[in-house]
Amino acid sequence: MNNPNRPAETPGETVARLTLAEKAGLTTGAGWWHTTAYPDAGIPEVRLSDGPHGLRLQNDTRADHLGINGSAPATCFPPAVTLACTWDSDLARRVGDALARESLAHGVHVLLGPGVNIKRSPLCGRNFEYFSEDPLLSGVLGTAWVKGLQAQGVGASVKHFAANNQETGRMSVSADIDVRTLREIYLPAFHRVVTEAEPWTVMCAYNRVNGVHASQNPWLLTDVLRGEWGYDGVVVSDWGAVVDRARALAAGLDLEMPSSSGAGPARAVAAVESGELPEEALDRSAARVVALARKAAEHARPGAAFDAAAHHELAREVATRGAVLLKNDGALLPLDPAAAQRIAVIGEFARTPRYQGEGSSRVNPTRLEDALTSIVEAAPAAHVTFAPGFPVDAPDADAAALQEEALRAAESADVVVLFLGLPPSFESEGYDREHIELPEEQTRLLAAVVAVNANAVVVLSNGGVVRPAGWIDGVPAVLEGWLSGQAGGSATADLLFGRANPSGRLAETIPLRLADTPAYLAWPGENGHVTYSEGLFVGYRHYDARDMAVSFPFGHGLSYTTFAYADLRVVPDAGGLDVTVAVTNTGERSGHEVVQVYVAAPGARARRPVRELKGFATVCLAPGETQDVTVRIARADLAYFDTAAGTWLVEDADHRIDVGASSRDIRLTTTVPVDGDAYADQPDADSTVEVWLAHPVGGPAITALLGRVQKSMGDAYPQEGSSRQRMVANMRLSQLAGLPIVPLSFDDVQELVETVRSAAGTGREATS
Ligand code: BGC
Repeated sequence: MNNPNRPAETPGETVARLTLAEKAGLTTGAGWWHTTAYPDAGIPEVRLSDGPHGLRLQNDTRADHLGINGSAPATCFPPAVTLACTWDSDLARRVGDALARESLAHGVHVLLGPGVNIKRSPLCGRNFEYFSEDPLLSGVLGTAWVKGLQAQGVGASVKHFAANNQETGRMSVSADIDVRTLREIYLPAFHRVVTEAEPWTVMCAYNRVNGVHASQNPWLLTDVLRGEWGYDGVVVSDWGAVVDRARALAAGLDLEMPSSSGAGPARAVAAVESGELPEEALDRSAARVVALARKAAEHARPGAAFDAAAHHELAREVATRGAVLLKNDGALLPLDPAAAQRIAVIGEFARTPRYQGEGSSRVNPTRLEDALTSIVEAAPAAHVTFAPGFPVDAPDADAAALQEEALRAAESADVVVLFLGLPPSFESEGYDREHIELPEEQTRLLAAVVAVNANAVVVLSNGGVVRPAGWIDGVPAVLEGWLSGQAGGSATADLLFGRANPSGRLAETIPLRLADTPAYLAWPGENGHVTYSEGLFVGYRHYDARDMAVSFPFGHGLSYTTFAYADLRVVPDAGGLDVTVAVTNTGERSGHEVVQVYVAAPGARARRPVRELKGFATVCLAPGETQDVTVRIARADLAYFDTAAGTWLVEDADHRIDVGASSRDIRLTTTVPVDGDAYADQPDADSTVEVWLAHPVGGPAITALLGRVQKSMGDAYPQEGSSRQRMVANMRLSQLAGLPIVPLSFDDVQELVETVRSAAGTGREATS
């Protein structure tokens, strides 16, 4: 959309021709879903839309960010909770690709997703939109999704940066997190997506991080995101997350969304005019928006269409692959599709599916399947009866009568398939859950059903985990279907009747009780602060460190076949480790296995989790087939964040490699020695020159400084290896600065100390 008569100019040159007011206008949305355009200056608008599991295209007059108003029909893929349980990055990439095609067909340039926040507590109302309790799994899947989307020319918006792990107080609560935990748990998924997939935009969170709003946090948006990770795209606010437009611009927030009815631009102009905000900060952000707008225009494909039927099939594939068979005693599943059996389908969710979550991600599906219809179709010889069993979000309904009717159906059936789950009001964007129980009328119904017919299968529909410990012993088979998108009905029938083999693996631990969960005592905080006092010990890291029993561990999931692991080999090289294992399908059906590689450093100096997921691979094997599966672990992923050194360090220690089918089902183990990075305590003014030289950040800094000293001292500078040099190495840095013959000032020393300290800091000092 560049003016053809104008020679191509850089975004900076374009911005230089704008007035101050125009620049301020460019960095704030012109409406709910689009940016400001200046066609005469060759700056088109950018159209953005939610995300993440489908396109929620609204027009500006009926726009909202809470899922209230309708949107154009689009494929409703299963949300991230389900996609994550596939552990299949290629599938995530294909979903990204399909989402891009739908976006292009509707003229959308940026799709607002993926959400890679960590599931710190099962109570987070928005967990259905996030992938996992594990940063590696979240980051790998998020990266693949973004690559799939952007390869088609639609930009992603990885969100919500950062530490948006609860909905309670989400607009302002301060997530107070120590630096190591931030670095190792809450930032790595963002880091991976940013560095490996280069998303067009990053969306900042609503909340504060260590006291500073994410939307105006220079440490987060500039020091880490741009300085350390090299990000050069646009940082966009979550909708309405900007508190002070001038401070946000200064911190590196380029684009305020949606329109703030002129308030944001007016504040920016006033701040520049008063000297509070350097105009260069506004120019930088405006240039990034220009670059985004040009990229969006270049990739637009007016008139593009998408294949709705193919996307429905893809949604079905994800729903099938992401469902987790939690339990299958006596191989009750799969059911025989050819048998002339009486099947009682009980539960409103079989007829009225719970297939996505509430809030801004809500999609208006192109089609919607229900499991009841699909079951009837899948088992033509069966006699299927249905009873709703319980009310859903209807407090005045007669639960007792519904239960009576369901029991009559159960009594006379050969097998009961009971659809339980969370009513929509139990989980949503905007508020958190109060507990992790199924509604009482459902567990009461379940107990009554299994008392009259023990041949029962439970199919669950829920976005956040539910606690099975109170009822699961009474039922032989449980299929966790999560929120299964618009094609969940046929996916469920395929799994129940064995046309598909369950392959989902848990992306989050299912605890025995809420009180066992890592953040239980520090949730949801008070007086505007939530302290992440469990530190690194989130999800399985917590249960394993305390050696606690759980209902189902991270990574768990059964199949209709079985897999054997053999012949573990680890080949180290300078860049990491190749972990190879031979996996055999020892059963009678084809199936997917997810090979999970966990790493531990038991003798390490720093406190480390018992084991951490460092790689995984999904493989599909025919009965009897064996394949070597190789999982690459980058050396960087072996590191921990050392707060004293202010940097990532690989420890010089034996590392244990655990390969298994879940975090608690380790099949093979081996140990490899790893050459660590040089370690040094964080030096201060009183540390010796030797300690300074060994430090990863301080070393290069002091070497540069000593070079200057050497230049000015000439021959008087101690010779390499001389006793004088060794004496100097043993001197405190501040002592050296005190010597009249050494041209090193106390200010120089102070500067060095600051360099090391800010590398180690959380930005708390810099930002508050
Ligand atoms: C949500 C974002 C969403 C935005 C636009 C916000 O309330 O937190 O995830 O992309 O609205 O709808």
